[in-house]
Amino acid sequence: MSLLPLVILPDPLLREISKPVADLDGRVKALIEDMFETMYEAPGVGLAAVQVGVTQRIVTMDATRGDDDKEPLALINPEIIWSSDQLSDYEEGCLSIPDYHEVVTRPAKVGVRFLTLAGKIEEREMEGLAATVIQHEIDHLNGKLFIDHLSKLKRDRVLKKFQKIARHQGGA
Ligand code: NI
Repeated sequence: MSLLPLVILPDPLLREISKPVADLDGRVKALIEDMFETMYEAPGVGLAAVQVGVTQRIVTMDATRGDDDKEPLALINPEIIWSSDQLSDYEEGCLSIPDYHEVVTRPAKVGVRFLTLAGKIEEREMEGLAATVIQHEIDHLNGKLFIDHLSKLKRDRVLKKFQKIARHQGGA
């Protein structure tokens, strides 16, 4: 296992649409292991493969908190199959937009269908933090960021800040 470098705003890779995974081979398994290690180390509650530079539809997440036992979940080709009318507000952050948090409103509950690493189709109902995380991560697979859910004013302010940081780092 190894820690992977994170793709940070305003890297244009974050705007790419990830491709469905066709083969559940050893590379996918190794990538998922590295994604979990990178996510837990950050620490974060969710990670999309594009955030480590791989534009494939793979998400790792763990919405447990504090001293609860870890519940790592890897989702391959995940899709939202239904979402509740009821909404909920959650203060979100993103490993690709470090040190920035803002409240986002999303459906409070969603149904998610995905492939497991074993190639099994699974469906789960998610609510609370898990619902927020999976919607945020599936957005990543579609080239969308949580700041896209904010007002243009707020989004432009964050973008400017990160463009400035990138310039000072010589675009590294
Ligand atoms: Ni994110």
